[in-house]
Amino acid sequence: MTANEALAQLEQRAAAELHAATDEAALRAWNTKFFGEKGEMNAALRLVSTLPADQRKAYGQDGNRVKQSLLTAYEQKLAIEKEASLLANLAANPLDVTLPGRTMSAGGIHIATRVMREIDAIFADMGFQVFRSREVEDDQTNFELLNMPPHHPARDMWDTFHTKTPGVLLRTHTSPGQIHVMKQFAPNPVRAVLPGMCYRYEAITTRSEIQFEQVEGLVIGPNITMADLKGTITAFARRLFGQERQIRIRSSYFPFTEPSIEVDIDWPKEDPNADRLTKGTGWLEIMGAGMIHPTVLRNGGYDPDVVSGFAFGMGPQRITMLKHAIDDIREFWKNDLRFLGQF
Ligand code: DAH
Repeated sequence: MTANEALAQLEQRAAAELHAATDEAALRAWNTKFFGEKGEMNAALRLVSTLPADQRKAYGQDGNRVKQSLLTAYEQKLAIEKEASLLANLAANPLDVTLPGRTMSAGGIHIATRVMREIDAIFADMGFQVFRSREVEDDQTNFELLNMPPHHPARDMWDTFHTKTPGVLLRTHTSPGQIHVMKQFAPNPVRAVLPGMCYRYEAITTRSEIQFEQVEGLVIGPNITMADLKGTITAFARRLFGQERQIRIRSSYFPFTEPSIEVDIDWPKEDPNADRLTKGTGWLEIMGAGMIHPTVLRNGGYDPDVVSGFAFGMGPQRITMLKHAIDDIREFWKNDLRFLGQF
């Protein structure tokens, strides 16, 4: 048999086997058998070098034609086979590519933190620095330096968590932060707000928690008056609750301020909850405040004959409850996503 005859037979056999291969694996096996490194077709093509010189060209051309036509047929069949197996796969494992994707649920900032930041930002715009101070305090700073010596009856206003170390407690309010700020800045003027967590040994109800937030504020400088306090609080309340809001000031008592006041804002009558919230008065308490007591100024390192100051303290969670009609303070700690996701 001549080389040409052998080539023709090889072509026939390869074409027949290609025809018989019906899945992708069989097709690839066919490809290896004829066109792999040790494949029969490649071996046949290499024969060209053993032929007499005058036959080489024709054999080479013929060989390449056979190779090209077989490979083209192979590629076509492989493509058809792949498509068919994809369709079969899709039919077996139906997938609706037109379905909308699953949206990712993004987390968010806790509503209490957001309102806290809003309050900080309003005061920052008015030139207040934002300070943090310690939650584990000493008795001196939480009470004594705020004008409440041991056994002072006003201490009863704050039911206290004491630690096993005598004189060390969880702060019952952010007011001791005033002392830290004063000691750092005296005798210079200062404007600061102090947001942070406070603790009280109280029964937990819808309105009070043993752990809650406060924001303290203080301003000290020459000629600071009650009018400055009033203006600052009014500007703050209007930015937080709306430009038309009115504030009302009532006299009160705190050991660390003289005079002491409590501040109310008017509640819009349109709000269906207004009557319940304000107990029919139309007013809601938002903070305690006053002119810093001379003794407290002195304890912080200031001379009350040279400077004066005002201070205020409020519960941002209470304010959040007002702003968003939340009626149970315990929601803040529950981490119930149905509650948190509303805001
Ligand atoms: N510390 C007070 C409390 O927890 C709130 C307060 C009242 C803070 C008057 C002040 C203030 O700075 O001047 O009830």
